[in-house]
Amino acid sequence: MKKVIKNGTIVTASDTYVADVLVEDGKIAMIAKNLPSEGMEVIDAEGCYIFPGGIDPHTHLEMPFGGTVSRDDFETGTIAAAYGGTTTVIDFCLTDKGVPLKNSIETWHKKSRDKAVIDYSFHLMIGEINDDVMREIPQVIEEEGITSFKVFMAYKNVLQADDETLFKTLVMAREQGALVMVHAENGDVIDFLTKKALEEGKTDPIYHGLTRPPELEGEATGRACMMTGLSGSQLYVVHVSCQEAVEKIAEARKKGFNVYGETCPQYLVLDQSEMERPNFEGAKYVWSPPLREKKHQEPLWNALKNGQLQTLGSDQCSFDFKGQKDLGKGDFTKIPNGGPFIEDRFSVLFSEGVKKGRITLNQFVDIVSTRSAKLFGLFPEKGTIAVGSDADLVIFDPAAERTISEKTHHMAVDYNAFEGMKITGEPVSVLSRGEFVIKDKAFVGELGKGRYIKRKRFNAEGQKQLAVLSK
Ligand code: URP
Ligand code: ZN
Ligand code: ZN
Ligand code: ZN
Repeated sequence: MKKVIKNGTIVTASDTYVADVLVEDGKIAMIAKNLPSEGMEVIDAEGCYIFPGGIDPHTHLEMPFGGTVSRDDFETGTIAAAYGGTTTVIDFCLTDKGVPLKNSIETWHKKSRDKAVIDYSFHLMIGEINDDVMREIPQVIEEEGITSFKVFMAYKNVLQADDETLFKTLVMAREQGALVMVHAENGDVIDFLTKKALEEGKTDPIYHGLTRPPELEGEATGRACMMTGLSGSQLYVVHVSCQEAVEKIAEARKKGFNVYGETCPQYLVLDQSEMERPNFEGAKYVWSPPLREKKHQEPLWNALKNGQLQTLGSDQCSFDFKGQKDLGKGDFTKIPNGGPFIEDRFSVLFSEGVKKGRITLNQFVDIVSTRSAKLFGLFPEKGTIAVGSDADLVIFDPAAERTISEKTHHMAVDYNAFEGMKITGEPVSVLSRGEFVIKDKAFVGELGKGRYIKRKRFNAEGQKQLAVLSK
């Protein structure tokens, strides 16, 4: 049945206006004032904004990590995402050395296929570049529509790749039209510092933060940026947490390098002192890069505002406090790294960003949705409200006030890192390709209804406006 959304204020990355939206066959069929509604389902959005569905470019659902598996999977994770206003997630598919990429991708399809309630796609981790990998990559791009590849510069002896691998990945990506993503921290120096701390009997969660100083994120970010310039390739730095990294990205962009950056809500509103909580509760706030001193928050907000950083990812990688974070009692290096942010990413940015005057309403949409769609080959099907685009829509009450809590969130994990935070604005209803997933704040979606999305190459149609073509 056709749907018409009436009386809402449509907000895109460029415009804000009042109009009705006609939804037909999962797509936006028409946008105009006073659309006829006879024989259609009418949704009244009076007093609400209509946003394009949020795109979360950075999640780790049901991911084996730190001796356990992240708590939220494609079921609870995508339900929580939908409650929070997100209609597409791009999850990181891990790979193992010596194992065909296809096998790893199939493992990820199995985790997600029958569970996801919203659309999803995968990035692929690159741990090594050899002839087998190089042979497989064109197939991965063509057949799976995976057009972004992630290299870890940290987690020594686990996920970390060396500079040769990063550089070869950049060269490959330039040739293939793909985007390289990096976790930028200097894993070798961190390895030395963490071992030294443990030798000195420093085992509490706070030492996770103190052994991964911002200088090491800045250094790795700068290294990756320089390799990007040298290779004429394109780079997306995930979870930027500090001023040092922002400066390296800004410097590279000033040189005309194709470098983009993402931050996460946790770095915008929480700080290092959370890791000092007593009774091991600091472990709830252990992830990498770690929370920084408060002085880093303003440079991150400014970078979002002035466009040096383009997107907000959740870096959802949740572990229960009881039974998972526990693994690191007496040794902070054994605390599984990660936290639960998939549900609150969208509303925290709205409340702390728009409501507090740090970014505009249109910048909000750009950061939470449009930029990710453009960078990751999903635009214009996703990331905007336009005729022909998927009807992934969020009807959002900008005046609703609520307090974030583990008691009311929809993630499976047993705590919320934003517990007690008062925010303004809440999604009322959320549609994925024209079907309600959330209706009047209740979940009405269906497991397995989310579709796997094959993405376009970087720099392909719809993204040209973003790329400074190099060499
Ligand atoms: O601590 C984090 N961020 N865990 C997830 C893996 C990663 O590094 O993004
Ligand atoms: Zn497949
Ligand atoms: Zn990371
Ligand atoms: Zn991550």
